[in-house]
Amino acid sequence: MGSSLAIPALTKDLVRVLIDADSISRRVDELAHQINDAYANIEGRLILVGVLKGSFILTADLCRKLTIPHVVDFIALSSYSGDRTSGNVRLLMDTRENMEDKHVLIIEDILDSGYTLDYLIRNFKARKPASVKTLVLLDKPDRHTVPVEIDYQGFTIPDVWVVGYGLDYNERYRTLPYIAEMYPQE
Ligand code: XMP
Ligand code: MG
Repeated sequence: MGSSLAIPALTKDLVRVLIDADSISRRVDELAHQINDAYANIEGRLILVGVLKGSFILTADLCRKLTIPHVVDFIALSSYSGDRTSGNVRLLMDTRENMEDKHVLIIEDILDSGYTLDYLIRNFKARKPASVKTLVLLDKPDRHTVPVEIDYQGFTIPDVWVVGYGLDYNERYRTLPYIAEMYPQE
């Protein structure tokens, strides 16, 4: 009682806070409003598909701000080892919901090269949904290699490695409440 929430301090490899927790929360609010409006009158169901692991916090925050009916599903992919992209997307765990005639909204933490979202959009479109749209919290335009259409975007960021709010470096820093820029020291 009376104790304040402990916010983890920046460590030697976290350079600066790029986006603080309040700014993330306000932006997620705005995105939720846009989605509430856009999907207000759809026929059929809205399925949010969070891309694990990076989008689990974003998906949890966003879905609790939606006032329209929806279901939450997840997919797990892997294309990274450390901070290098392989361009080789692997499906680790598939979704459970049947997407046929449903509206699918992919929830992704960050758009970097575009390989992951390009793979997902193609893969989901083959499942005959009513629509496939994308929400990306962070966009690194300098890194785009494959063109991908983003329907909802949180923030544009420079080409730096970021951690926190779901994003990690070799599984570290994923649960920081803010998004920080980092330089790996080891
Ligand atoms: P692509 O290149 O396929 O990458 O667009 C998307 C995935 O790459 C990961 N990624 C990052 N993860 N900090 C992270 O923690 C970053 O700065 C970063 N950049 C890319 C992420 O998993 C994303 O889903
Ligand atoms: Mg990811």
